[in-house]
Amino acid sequence: MHIDATEKKWFYISLTVTIAIIVILTFSAISSNIHPPSSVEKIDSNRLHLDGEFKEDNLGVKKNADGSYSVTMVAARYGFYPQRIEVPVNTPIKIRMASFDVLHGIHAPFTNFNTMVVPGYVSEVNTTFTKAGEYPLFCNEFCGLGHDHMWSKLIVSEEAEK
Ligand code: CUA
Repeated sequence: MHIDATEKKWFYISLTVTIAIIVILTFSAISSNIHPPSSVEKIDSNRLHLDGEFKEDNLGVKKNADGSYSVTMVAARYGFYPQRIEVPVNTPIKIRMASFDVLHGIHAPFTNFNTMVVPGYVSEVNTTFTKAGEYPLFCNEFCGLGHDHMWSKLIVSEEAEK
């Protein structure tokens, strides 16, 4: 079979680029620990309410000793609980979420807070909200008849309470 020399050249160029991209992706994913925010660790969704991190008493916003904040939320048909979250602007925030029932997604428009919440797994988002205001938290994975009405509120307050 005859292959044109120019075609052969471009074949090797595109092969090299493909391999280079795979190597760079793999290297940066491992060296910088870059991964999707969903499914970071396993959890028993049937026992969320009984004890541990996602028990009702443990949900909500907590201020850490270093000035950062931790937010613990549960996604359940049809809402994200607690339904009102308030955190300060320009402050590092770690949000950990688990689903009580089925697959949900949570998304705050105009921010990078966006993750799937897969039953049986914890989702974790580390972010800093840079613009104060009120944001809706929408569900963006179809989860049942009430999906369109599944939302909660995120308030990013002006003063950094440090
Ligand atoms: Cu929860 Cu859609």
